[in-house]
Amino acid sequence: MSISRRGFLGSAVAASLATTLDAQRLNAQEKTISANSVPANPFGTGKRPIIICSKNGVNYLDDAFAFLKGGGDTLDAALRVVKGPEDDPNDDSVGLGGLPNEEGVVELDACCMHGPSRRAGSVGGVRNIKNVSLVSKAVMEHTGHVMLVGEGAERFAVAMGFPRENLLTERSRKIWLLWKEYNSNDDWWGPGLADPNWKAPAIPATSPQSELWERRIERLEQRAASLGIEPEFRRAAIRRVLSPPTGTIHCSALNDKGEISGCTTTSGLAYKLPGRVGDSPIIGAGCYTDQDVGSAGATGAGEENIKVAGAHTIVENMRHGMSPLEAGMDALRRIVRNYNGDMKKLNFIDMSYYILRKDGAYAGVSLWEGYAPDDRHKIAVHDGTRRLEDTVALLKGSSHEFPPFPVTIPAELKKDSVYLK
Ligand code: GLY
Repeated sequence: MSISRRGFLGSAVAASLATTLDAQRLNAQEKTISANSVPANPFGTGKRPIIICSKNGVNYLDDAFAFLKGGGDTLDAALRVVKGPEDDPNDDSVGLGGLPNEEGVVELDACCMHGPSRRAGSVGGVRNIKNVSLVSKAVMEHTGHVMLVGEGAERFAVAMGFPRENLLTERSRKIWLLWKEYNSNDDWWGPGLADPNWKAPAIPATSPQSELWERRIERLEQRAASLGIEPEFRRAAIRRVLSPPTGTIHCSALNDKGEISGCTTTSGLAYKLPGRVGDSPIIGAGCYTDQDVGSAGATGAGEENIKVAGAHTIVENMRHGMSPLEAGMDALRRIVRNYNGDMKKLNFIDMSYYILRKDGAYAGVSLWEGYAPDDRHKIAVHDGTRRLEDTVALLKGSSHEFPPFPVTIPAELKKDSVYLK
């Protein structure tokens, strides 16, 4: 299967339309989206009971909602949602099958907050244990601590009866190898000189930039094939190499009595340094729940979210009277402020927040729209009706791959915004 350069690059470069914009233009962009296109209350007024989560939880909402409606605890309902992707080997953003660190080892992070009892639990950098969201709950219930990390967290999980298992699926291993080989001009990974298919990586400086892209993608296609990545999954694999994902799942649940809880779980940034912990297990960043106000959680660039304590900021904003939408937009603006509105940097950041107020009002917000038209950032909701809704974006377009390819993308390639699954 060949990938059209135009089609492939569209996904990666749509956001680069904004690369040269300055802070002034950023303000204009914000107005375009948040003032002109967004209805005053795009998500309705909300009702109870209700569960919200990131898009990858949508298939687990029916079961969790029935459990919640039947009197189940709010945290247990939220954990039912996130356990689904944790158990799913084909979801490479959390749990089993999560994309590994740069050494090929899966390290998981998770946290939870139980509103009614005002307790929290968290684990970071856990290896060999699939359901880290449940381990975070065990930390909350069976220790006097809030957070355990690394080997200690793993040993605690085993003591609590969680099985040790190999979390690296064949598919995730091959994507990791593709990433290693693709980034290996300066090391010994990938085919060596003796390989009959070896080609000199140097590209004549005179080549048009579009040709550089074409060669880059062709090289990835060939390597994906030689690693045995199934043809139908090759495009997705290449995208995960060019744009290492920070996939995660957050869920917040509110029952008819007004009790509320939240949890977040992730395999973290793909190919991260061993020991890197993102926002997901940080109480106040990846998740925050206050029984008096509401709950919020995040998916996206963990480093950026930690710096604005996103989930806590949002809940505090709601405490002081902001709507869920306003509260989320304010947190996103703090990320923009941390880079003084520099679009050259913001292009490489993606962030979404999922927000639920105690009265059932909710919102999903994102820094970027995502990949139009069929893969916008979404929030999944169940309040009796299960659905996916577009998040409200602060900025038009989509985020850009990181690390950046060291040439300017030809202007004609920026028009296409096809997203490759
Ligand atoms: N938001 C997930 C991470 O950055 O690890």
